[in-house]
Amino acid sequence: MGRAHKNRDSRKRLSRKGAGERMSLAPEELVRHGWMWDRTPVTLRSVQPEDAPALCAMFRACSPKSLYLRFERQLNEISLDQAVQLCSVDHKNEIGIVAEIKEAGSHKLIGLGQLSADPDHGTAEYAVLVADPWQGKGLGSKFTDFCLEIAWRWGVKRVVGEFSPSNVRIIRILQSRGFRFQRDRQEQVVFAEKILE
Ligand SMILES: CC(C)(COP(=O)(O)OP(=O)(O)OC[C@H]1O[C@@H](n2cnc3c(N)ncnc32)[C@H](O)[C@@H]1OP(=O)(O)O)[C@@H](O)C(=O)NCCC(=O)NCCS
Repeated sequence: MGRAHKNRDSRKRLSRKGAGERMSLAPEELVRHGWMWDRTPVTLRSVQPEDAPALCAMFRACSPKSLYLRFERQLNEISLDQAVQLCSVDHKNEIGIVAEIKEAGSHKLIGLGQLSADPDHGTAEYAVLVADPWQGKGLGSKFTDFCLEIAWRWGVKRVVGEFSPSNVRIIRILQSRGFRFQRDRQEQVVFAEKILE
């Protein structure tokens, strides 16, 4: 059974928020323990304001190319203020998930997944960044499954994303999870969309 199917099965035990319900998910509801493909243990959890310095360190481990693919502009690192902003999510219309590993006895952040929803949760935009040394180990796939599950529990009806057509990894991830694509050749961008039922 594929990874996407496993994710769909796990949803059977979870509930989806409906119209008129509390739209926020508490940080403690947003934790997932697992392994990367090389068996390194990893925890995906809600980002916290105190993660800002570790997030700066994570950005320093990212190549300019990865940062460009994620933010669509040249970026070498982020300031502590920018990191604080990324870590200050309201859990109502924004959710940030970090991937944390233990290395040499200390905790390290190696990825950030984000969902940003419109106020009625009709549509949420998904974006993800895995720091370069940990790419190609299944973490982007793991983030995507968890964020899709969160969006579903959150009551979101449509998840969208925007990517460079050269971004093979994210396109493969989204393709195998049932996203549909539309390419704007002039703007050199791919729009991806998945309807959640
Ligand atoms: C895109 C990104 C999130 C993917 O995360 P990742 O952890 O590297 O990806 P995974 O290891 O889960 O692999 C994803 C897919 O790419 C494939 N892949 C892995 N390494 C690859 C490589 N070198 N070349 C081609 N495909 C590759 C995997 O086999 C997998 O495909 P599958 O699901 O069909 O098996 C990550 O590379 C990244 O952060 N890139 C920079 C930022 C970015 O592009 N963000 C997305 C736009 S918001």
